[in-house]
Amino acid sequence: SGVITLDPGYKNSGACKSEITFLDGELGILRYRGYSIEDLAEKSHFLEVSYLLIFGNLPSAETLEQFENDIRRFTLVSEEMKIIIDGFPRTAHPMGVLSALTSALTAFHPKSVDVNNEKDMYDAICKTIAKFLVIATWTYRKSMGYPLNYYDNTIGYVENFMSLMFKLPTGPYAVNPVIVDALDKLFILHADHEQNCSTSTVRMVGSSHAGLFASISSGVSALWGPLHGGANQAVLEMLEEIHASGGDADKYLAKAKDKDDPFRLMGFGHRVYKNFDPRAKIIKKAADDVLATLGVNDPILEIAKKLEAAALEDEYFKSRNLYPNVDFYSGIIYRALGIPTDMFTVLFAIGRLPGWIAQWKEMRENKEPIGRPRQVYTGYPLRDYVK
Ligand code: CMC
Repeated sequence: SGVITLDPGYKNSGACKSEITFLDGELGILRYRGYSIEDLAEKSHFLEVSYLLIFGNLPSAETLEQFENDIRRFTLVSEEMKIIIDGFPRTAHPMGVLSALTSALTAFHPKSVDVNNEKDMYDAICKTIAKFLVIATWTYRKSMGYPLNYYDNTIGYVENFMSLMFKLPTGPYAVNPVIVDALDKLFILHADHEQNCSTSTVRMVGSSHAGLFASISSGVSALWGPLHGGANQAVLEMLEEIHASGGDADKYLAKAKDKDDPFRLMGFGHRVYKNFDPRAKIIKKAADDVLATLGVNDPILEIAKKLEAAALEDEYFKSRNLYPNVDFYSGIIYRALGIPTDMFTVLFAIGRLPGWIAQWKEMRENKEPIGRPRQVYTGYPLRDYVK
Protein backbone atom coordinates (compact mmCIF):
# COMPACT_ATOMS: atom_id res chain seq x y z
CA SER A 1 0.00 0.00 0.00
CA GLY A 2 1.19 3.53 -0.65
CA VAL A 3 3.78 4.69 -3.15
CA ILE A 4 7.22 3.16 -2.80
CA THR A 5 10.17 5.30 -3.83
CA LEU A 6 12.90 3.20 -5.38
CA ASP A 7 16.49 4.12 -4.59
CA PRO A 8 18.81 1.20 -5.39
CA GLY A 9 22.06 1.44 -3.46
CA TYR A 10 20.43 4.17 -1.30
CA LYS A 11 22.21 6.79 -3.39
CA ASN A 12 19.85 9.52 -2.22
CA SER A 13 18.18 8.13 0.89
CA GLY A 14 19.15 9.04 4.42
CA ALA A 15 18.58 6.17 6.85
CA CYS A 16 19.34 7.95 10.12
CA LYS A 17 20.34 11.16 11.83
CA SER A 18 23.87 11.04 13.19
CA GLU A 19 26.16 13.26 15.26
CA ILE A 20 29.32 11.27 14.63
CA THR A 21 30.90 12.08 11.27
CA PHE A 22 30.47 15.03 8.93
CA LEU A 23 31.37 14.56 5.30
CA ASP A 24 31.11 16.97 2.37
CA GLY A 25 31.81 15.11 -0.84
CA GLU A 26 31.96 18.22 -3.03
CA LEU A 27 34.44 20.07 -0.84
CA GLY A 28 36.37 16.99 0.31
CA ILE A 29 35.73 17.59 4.02
CA LEU A 30 35.78 14.86 6.67
CA ARG A 31 35.31 15.53 10.39
CA TYR A 32 34.85 13.26 13.40
CA ARG A 33 32.62 14.86 16.04
CA GLY A 34 33.51 18.27 14.61
CA TYR A 35 37.31 17.78 14.51
CA SER A 36 38.98 17.85 11.10
CA ILE A 37 40.52 14.61 9.92
CA GLU A 38 43.72 16.51 9.11
CA ASP A 39 44.05 17.71 12.73
CA LEU A 40 43.28 14.33 14.22
CA ALA A 41 45.65 12.44 11.90
CA GLU A 42 48.47 14.79 12.77
CA LYS A 43 47.95 15.37 16.49
CA SER A 44 45.89 12.59 18.00
CA HIS A 45 46.30 8.84 18.25
CA PHE A 46 44.06 5.90 17.52
CA LEU A 47 42.62 5.06 20.93
CA GLU A 48 41.96 8.73 21.66
CA VAL A 49 40.11 9.04 18.33
CA SER A 50 38.23 5.83 19.17
CA TYR A 51 37.10 7.38 22.46
CA LEU A 52 36.09 10.56 20.66
CA LEU A 53 34.00 8.71 18.08
CA ILE A 54 32.32 6.41 20.56
CA PHE A 55 31.67 8.78 23.47
CA GLY A 56 31.38 12.10 21.64
CA ASN A 57 34.17 14.22 23.14
CA LEU A 58 37.93 14.15 23.44
CA PRO A 59 38.87 12.52 26.75
CA SER A 60 40.90 14.20 29.51
CA ALA A 61 44.33 12.66 30.10
CA GLU A 62 42.96 10.68 33.10
CA THR A 63 39.90 9.44 31.23
CA LEU A 64 42.02 8.32 28.32
CA GLU A 65 44.43 6.46 30.62
CA GLN A 66 41.46 4.79 32.30
CA PHE A 67 40.02 3.82 28.91
CA GLU A 68 43.34 2.28 27.82
CA ASN A 69 43.61 0.40 31.12
CA ASP A 70 40.04 -0.84 30.83
CA ILE A 71 40.77 -2.19 27.35
CA ARG A 72 43.77 -4.07 28.80
CA ARG A 73 41.43 -5.85 31.24
CA PHE A 74 39.88 -7.72 28.32
CA THR A 75 42.85 -8.59 26.13
CA LEU A 76 42.84 -12.31 26.95
CA VAL A 77 40.90 -14.33 24.40
CA SER A 78 39.49 -17.72 25.39
CA GLU A 79 41.87 -20.59 24.64
CA GLU A 80 38.89 -22.44 23.13
CA MET A 81 38.83 -19.88 20.33
CA LYS A 82 42.10 -21.45 19.19
CA ILE A 83 40.28 -24.71 18.52
CA ILE A 84 37.93 -22.86 16.19
CA ILE A 85 40.86 -21.30 14.33
CA ASP A 86 42.45 -24.72 13.98
CA GLY A 87 39.39 -25.87 12.05
CA PHE A 88 40.11 -23.47 9.18
CA PRO A 89 42.43 -24.40 6.34
CA ARG A 90 45.61 -22.30 6.36
CA THR A 91 44.66 -20.94 2.95
CA ALA A 92 41.39 -19.42 4.23
CA HIS A 93 41.06 -15.69 3.59
CA PRO A 94 41.73 -13.79 6.86
CA MET A 95 38.54 -11.71 6.44
CA GLY A 96 36.39 -14.84 6.36
CA VAL A 97 38.14 -16.16 9.45
CA LEU A 98 37.85 -12.78 11.21
CA SER A 99 34.13 -12.55 10.54
CA ALA A 100 33.61 -16.10 11.86
CA LEU A 101 35.76 -15.54 14.96
CA THR A 102 34.02 -12.26 15.78
CA SER A 103 30.71 -14.06 15.56
CA ALA A 104 32.12 -16.89 17.69
CA LEU A 105 32.87 -14.38 20.47
CA THR A 106 29.10 -14.26 21.07
CA ALA A 107 29.32 -17.88 22.24
CA PHE A 108 32.00 -17.05 24.81
CA HIS A 109 30.31 -13.84 25.96
CA PRO A 110 26.63 -14.69 25.63
CA LYS A 111 25.26 -12.15 28.10
CA SER A 112 23.49 -9.51 26.02
CA VAL A 113 24.49 -5.92 26.64
CA ASP A 114 22.02 -3.80 28.56
CA VAL A 115 22.13 -0.68 26.40
CA ASN A 116 20.48 1.37 29.14
CA ASN A 117 23.24 0.51 31.60
CA GLU A 118 26.26 2.76 31.08
CA LYS A 119 28.72 0.39 32.77
CA ASP A 120 27.48 -2.57 30.74
CA MET A 121 27.86 -0.62 27.49
CA TYR A 122 31.30 0.65 28.46
CA ASP A 123 32.58 -2.84 29.30
CA ALA A 124 31.16 -4.30 26.08
CA ILE A 125 32.93 -1.59 24.09
CA CYS A 126 36.30 -2.11 25.84
CA LYS A 127 35.93 -5.86 25.44
CA THR A 128 35.25 -5.57 21.70
CA ILE A 129 38.19 -3.23 21.08
CA ALA A 130 40.51 -5.54 23.05
CA LYS A 131 39.54 -8.90 21.62
CA PHE A 132 39.03 -7.82 18.01
CA LEU A 133 42.69 -6.80 17.65
CA VAL A 134 43.89 -10.13 19.03
CA ILE A 135 41.70 -12.32 16.82
CA ALA A 136 42.41 -10.12 13.79
CA THR A 137 46.13 -10.84 14.12
CA TRP A 138 45.49 -14.51 14.87
CA THR A 139 44.05 -14.90 11.37
CA TYR A 140 47.52 -14.06 10.04
CA ARG A 141 49.39 -16.27 12.51
CA LYS A 142 47.15 -19.16 11.52
CA SER A 143 47.78 -18.61 7.80
CA MET A 144 51.52 -18.73 8.46
CA GLY A 145 51.33 -21.77 10.74
CA TYR A 146 52.91 -19.76 13.58
CA PRO A 147 52.02 -20.08 17.28
CA LEU A 148 49.38 -17.54 18.32
CA ASN A 149 50.63 -14.57 20.34
CA TYR A 150 49.14 -12.93 23.42
CA TYR A 151 48.50 -9.23 23.90
CA ASP A 152 51.32 -7.51 25.82
CA ASN A 153 49.73 -5.23 28.40
CA THR A 154 52.98 -3.28 28.87
CA ILE A 155 52.89 -1.69 25.40
CA GLY A 156 50.32 0.32 23.40
CA TYR A 157 47.48 -0.88 21.20
CA VAL A 158 49.12 -0.22 17.83
CA GLU A 159 52.47 -1.58 19.08
CA ASN A 160 50.53 -4.66 20.06
CA PHE A 161 49.24 -5.02 16.52
CA MET A 162 52.84 -5.36 15.34
CA SER A 163 54.00 -7.70 18.10
CA LEU A 164 50.87 -9.86 17.89
CA MET A 165 51.51 -10.21 14.15
CA PHE A 166 55.25 -10.61 13.95
CA LYS A 167 56.78 -11.58 17.29
CA LEU A 168 58.28 -15.05 17.23
CA PRO A 169 58.77 -17.23 20.32
CA THR A 170 62.53 -17.17 19.76
CA GLY A 171 63.90 -13.86 20.98
CA PRO A 172 62.71 -10.32 21.66
CA TYR A 173 60.72 -8.21 19.23
CA ALA A 174 61.44 -4.51 18.86
CA VAL A 175 58.59 -2.50 17.35
CA ASN A 176 59.75 0.10 14.82
CA PRO A 177 58.28 3.50 15.90
CA VAL A 178 58.11 4.74 12.28
CA ILE A 179 55.83 1.82 11.45
CA VAL A 180 53.72 2.37 14.55
CA ASP A 181 53.24 6.05 13.69
CA ALA A 182 52.23 5.26 10.14
CA LEU A 183 49.78 2.56 11.23
CA ASP A 184 48.30 4.81 13.90
CA LYS A 185 47.60 7.45 11.25
CA LEU A 186 46.09 4.87 8.90
CA PHE A 187 43.81 3.53 11.61
CA ILE A 188 42.63 7.09 12.41
CA LEU A 189 41.89 7.79 8.74
CA HIS A 190 39.81 4.63 8.50
CA ALA A 191 38.05 5.00 11.85
CA ASP A 192 34.68 6.22 10.58
CA HIS A 193 33.04 7.25 7.34
CA GLU A 194 29.38 7.77 8.18
CA GLN A 195 26.85 5.51 6.42
CA ASN A 196 29.12 3.43 4.17
CA CYS A 197 28.21 -0.15 3.26
CA SER A 198 29.74 -1.93 6.29
CA THR A 199 28.57 0.69 8.80
CA SER A 200 25.04 0.62 7.41
CA THR A 201 25.21 -3.16 7.71
CA VAL A 202 26.29 -2.93 11.36
CA ARG A 203 23.41 -0.53 12.08
CA MET A 204 20.94 -2.68 10.14
CA VAL A 205 21.91 -5.92 11.91
CA GLY A 206 22.02 -4.14 15.27
CA SER A 207 18.58 -2.65 14.63
CA SER A 208 17.08 -6.11 15.20
CA HIS A 209 18.78 -5.91 18.64
CA ALA A 210 21.37 -8.50 17.67
CA GLY A 211 24.42 -8.16 19.94
CA LEU A 212 27.53 -6.08 19.38
CA PHE A 213 29.80 -8.97 18.30
CA ALA A 214 27.17 -10.25 15.83
CA SER A 215 26.72 -6.76 14.38
CA ILE A 216 30.47 -6.21 14.04
CA SER A 217 30.89 -9.61 12.42
CA SER A 218 28.40 -8.62 9.71
CA GLY A 219 30.34 -5.37 9.22
CA VAL A 220 33.50 -7.40 8.58
CA SER A 221 31.71 -9.40 5.88
CA ALA A 222 30.39 -6.25 4.20
CA LEU A 223 33.82 -4.63 4.31
CA TRP A 224 35.45 -7.62 2.64
CA GLY A 225 34.01 -6.91 -0.84
CA PRO A 226 36.34 -5.39 -3.46
CA LEU A 227 34.05 -2.39 -4.02
CA HIS A 228 34.46 -1.47 -0.34
CA GLY A 229 37.37 -2.33 2.00
CA GLY A 230 38.57 -5.19 -0.19
CA ALA A 231 39.70 -2.53 -2.67
CA ASN A 232 43.02 -2.07 -0.82
CA GLN A 233 43.98 -5.68 -1.58
CA ALA A 234 42.59 -5.39 -5.11
CA VAL A 235 44.70 -2.25 -5.75
CA LEU A 236 47.91 -4.05 -4.88
CA GLU A 237 47.00 -7.10 -6.93
CA MET A 238 46.22 -4.83 -9.87
CA LEU A 239 49.55 -2.99 -9.53
CA GLU A 240 51.41 -6.30 -9.28
CA GLU A 241 49.65 -7.55 -12.39
CA ILE A 242 50.57 -4.38 -14.31
CA HIS A 243 54.17 -4.77 -13.14
CA ALA A 244 54.33 -8.45 -14.10
CA SER A 245 52.93 -7.75 -17.56
CA GLY A 246 55.60 -5.17 -18.39
CA GLY A 247 54.39 -2.04 -16.55
CA ASP A 248 52.04 -0.72 -19.23
CA ALA A 249 49.70 1.50 -17.14
CA ASP A 250 47.98 2.92 -20.26
CA LYS A 251 46.73 -0.52 -21.26
CA TYR A 252 44.92 -0.86 -17.92
CA LEU A 253 43.57 2.65 -18.17
CA ALA A 254 42.04 1.73 -21.54
CA LYS A 255 40.57 -1.47 -20.05
CA ALA A 256 38.95 0.55 -17.24
CA LYS A 257 37.33 2.86 -19.78
CA ASP A 258 36.06 0.06 -22.00
CA LYS A 259 32.37 -0.46 -21.16
CA ASP A 260 32.52 -4.05 -22.49
CA ASP A 261 35.27 -4.88 -20.02
CA PRO A 262 34.17 -5.35 -16.40
CA PHE A 263 37.61 -4.21 -15.16
CA ARG A 264 37.62 -1.09 -12.99
CA LEU A 265 40.61 0.87 -11.87
CA MET A 266 40.81 -0.24 -8.26
CA GLY A 267 41.35 2.56 -5.75
CA PHE A 268 39.59 5.12 -7.97
CA GLY A 269 36.19 6.69 -7.52
CA HIS A 270 33.96 7.15 -4.53
CA ARG A 271 30.24 7.20 -3.88
CA VAL A 272 30.41 10.48 -1.98
CA TYR A 273 33.69 12.25 -2.75
CA LYS A 274 33.41 13.88 -6.14
CA ASN A 275 36.44 16.18 -6.01
CA PHE A 276 39.02 14.40 -3.96
CA ASP A 277 39.18 12.07 -0.99
CA PRO A 278 40.73 14.06 1.90
CA ARG A 279 42.00 10.81 3.44
CA ALA A 280 43.86 10.02 0.22
CA LYS A 281 45.67 13.36 0.39
CA ILE A 282 46.97 12.63 3.91
CA ILE A 283 47.83 9.04 3.08
CA LYS A 284 49.70 9.97 -0.08
CA LYS A 285 52.00 12.16 1.98
CA ALA A 286 52.33 9.48 4.67
CA ALA A 287 53.24 6.95 1.96
CA ASP A 288 56.01 9.21 0.67
CA ASP A 289 57.33 9.75 4.24
CA VAL A 290 57.24 6.09 5.18
CA LEU A 291 58.95 4.94 1.99
CA ALA A 292 61.65 7.58 2.40
CA THR A 293 62.21 6.83 6.10
CA LEU A 294 62.33 3.09 5.61
CA GLY A 295 64.43 3.49 2.44
CA VAL A 296 61.98 1.43 0.38
CA ASN A 297 62.41 1.58 -3.37
CA ASP A 298 59.43 -0.18 -4.84
CA PRO A 299 58.71 -0.50 -8.58
CA ILE A 300 55.03 -0.97 -7.67
CA LEU A 301 55.01 2.58 -6.33
CA GLU A 302 56.34 3.91 -9.62
CA ILE A 303 53.50 2.17 -11.44
CA ALA A 304 50.98 3.63 -8.97
CA LYS A 305 52.33 7.12 -9.62
CA LYS A 306 52.18 6.61 -13.40
CA LEU A 307 48.64 5.32 -13.21
CA GLU A 308 47.51 8.12 -10.95
CA ALA A 309 49.01 10.83 -13.18
CA ALA A 310 47.54 9.30 -16.35
CA ALA A 311 44.05 8.91 -14.83
CA LEU A 312 44.02 12.46 -13.47
CA GLU A 313 44.68 13.76 -17.01
CA ASP A 314 42.17 11.48 -18.69
CA GLU A 315 38.82 12.81 -19.90
CA TYR A 316 36.92 9.64 -18.89
CA PHE A 317 38.05 9.91 -15.28
CA LYS A 318 37.81 13.70 -15.15
CA SER A 319 34.27 13.84 -16.50
CA ARG A 320 33.09 11.22 -13.98
CA ASN A 321 34.95 12.79 -11.06
CA LEU A 322 37.01 9.68 -10.44
CA TYR A 323 39.94 10.42 -8.13
CA PRO A 324 42.24 8.14 -6.16
CA ASN A 325 40.56 7.11 -2.91
CA VAL A 326 41.98 6.11 0.47
CA ASP A 327 42.54 2.51 -0.64
CA PHE A 328 44.75 3.51 -3.55
CA TYR A 329 47.59 4.55 -1.23
CA SER A 330 46.97 2.52 1.92
CA GLY A 331 47.98 -0.73 0.21
CA ILE A 332 51.27 0.80 -0.85
CA ILE A 333 52.10 1.72 2.76
CA TYR A 334 51.01 -1.66 4.12
CA ARG A 335 53.25 -3.35 1.59
CA ALA A 336 56.20 -1.17 2.58
CA LEU A 337 55.55 -2.08 6.23
CA GLY A 338 55.79 -5.79 5.38
CA ILE A 339 52.08 -6.55 5.84
CA PRO A 340 50.94 -9.42 3.60
CA THR A 341 48.46 -8.43 0.87
CA ASP A 342 45.56 -10.55 2.09
CA MET A 343 45.76 -8.85 5.51
CA PHE A 344 45.16 -5.36 4.08
CA THR A 345 41.40 -5.47 4.51
CA VAL A 346 41.83 -6.82 8.05
CA LEU A 347 43.80 -3.65 8.85
CA PHE A 348 40.92 -1.60 7.44
CA ALA A 349 38.59 -3.52 9.78
CA ILE A 350 40.79 -2.81 12.83
CA GLY A 351 40.74 0.88 11.91
CA ARG A 352 36.98 0.94 11.24
CA LEU A 353 36.04 -0.88 14.47
CA PRO A 354 35.54 2.26 16.64
CA GLY A 355 33.31 3.74 13.93
CA TRP A 356 31.16 0.61 13.81
CA ILE A 357 30.89 0.63 17.61
CA ALA A 358 30.04 4.35 17.73
CA GLN A 359 27.34 3.95 15.07
CA TRP A 360 25.87 0.85 16.72
CA LYS A 361 25.77 2.67 20.09
CA GLU A 362 24.15 5.75 18.58
CA MET A 363 21.56 3.63 16.77
CA ARG A 364 20.60 1.79 19.98
CA GLU A 365 20.62 4.93 22.14
CA ASN A 366 18.40 6.74 19.64
CA LYS A 367 16.03 3.77 19.81
CA GLU A 368 15.95 3.49 16.04
CA PRO A 369 13.35 1.12 14.57
CA ILE A 370 14.31 -2.15 12.93
CA GLY A 371 15.75 -1.59 9.43
CA ARG A 372 13.32 -2.90 6.86
CA PRO A 373 13.37 -1.42 3.35
CA ARG A 374 10.44 -1.96 0.98
CA GLN A 375 10.54 -3.18 -2.61
CA VAL A 376 8.68 -2.98 -5.89
CA TYR A 377 7.61 -6.50 -6.85
CA THR A 378 8.34 -7.33 -10.51
CA GLY A 379 7.69 -11.11 -10.57
CA TYR A 380 4.80 -13.26 -11.83
CA PRO A 381 1.18 -12.52 -10.98
CA LEU A 382 -0.71 -15.39 -9.28
CA ARG A 383 -0.05 -18.77 -10.97
CA ASP A 384 -1.82 -22.10 -10.48
CA TYR A 385 0.33 -24.82 -8.95
CA VAL A 386 0.89 -27.80 -11.32
CA LYS A 387 2.21 -31.06 -9.83
N1 CMC B 1 37.15 2.58 -12.89
C1 CMC B 1 36.49 2.83 -14.05
N2 CMC B 1 35.27 3.39 -14.11
C2 CMC B 1 34.68 3.70 -12.96
C3 CMC B 1 35.28 3.46 -11.71
C4 CMC B 1 36.57 2.88 -11.70
N3 CMC B 1 37.21 2.63 -10.55
N4 CMC B 1 34.45 3.87 -10.72
C5 CMC B 1 33.35 4.34 -11.32
N5 CMC B 1 33.47 4.24 -12.67
C6 CMC B 1 32.52 4.72 -13.67
C7 CMC B 1 31.32 3.80 -13.80
O1 CMC B 1 31.56 2.81 -14.77
C8 CMC B 1 30.23 4.76 -14.19
O2 CMC B 1 30.41 5.08 -15.56
P1 CMC B 1 29.12 5.43 -16.49
O3 CMC B 1 28.54 6.69 -15.89
O4 CMC B 1 29.67 5.60 -17.86
O5 CMC B 1 28.19 4.24 -16.36
C9 CMC B 1 30.57 6.01 -13.39
O6 CMC B 1 31.99 5.97 -13.20
C10 CMC B 1 29.87 6.11 -12.03
O7 CMC B 1 30.17 4.92 -11.29
P2 CMC B 1 29.17 4.19 -10.29
O8 CMC B 1 29.54 2.74 -10.22
O9 CMC B 1 27.76 4.53 -10.64
O10 CMC B 1 29.53 4.92 -8.93
P3 CMC B 1 29.19 4.39 -7.48
O11 CMC B 1 29.07 5.58 -6.62
O12 CMC B 1 28.05 3.42 -7.51
O13 CMC B 1 30.50 3.53 -7.09
C11 CMC B 1 32.62 2.91 -6.24
C12 CMC B 1 31.52 3.98 -6.28
C13 CMC B 1 33.65 3.28 -5.20
C14 CMC B 1 32.01 1.54 -5.88
C15 CMC B 1 33.27 2.82 -7.66
O14 CMC B 1 33.87 4.06 -7.98
C16 CMC B 1 34.29 1.69 -7.78
O15 CMC B 1 33.92 0.56 -8.08
N6 CMC B 1 35.62 1.97 -7.51
C17 CMC B 1 36.63 0.94 -7.51
C18 CMC B 1 36.63 0.20 -6.18
C19 CMC B 1 37.22 1.03 -5.05
O16 CMC B 1 38.27 1.62 -5.18
N7 CMC B 1 36.52 1.02 -3.89
C20 CMC B 1 36.98 1.70 -2.69
C21 CMC B 1 36.08 2.83 -2.28
S1 CMC B 1 36.86 3.90 -1.04
C22 CMC B 1 37.03 2.93 0.38
C23 CMC B 1 35.76 2.44 0.94
O17 CMC B 1 34.93 3.28 1.37
O18 CMC B 1 35.56 1.24 0.99
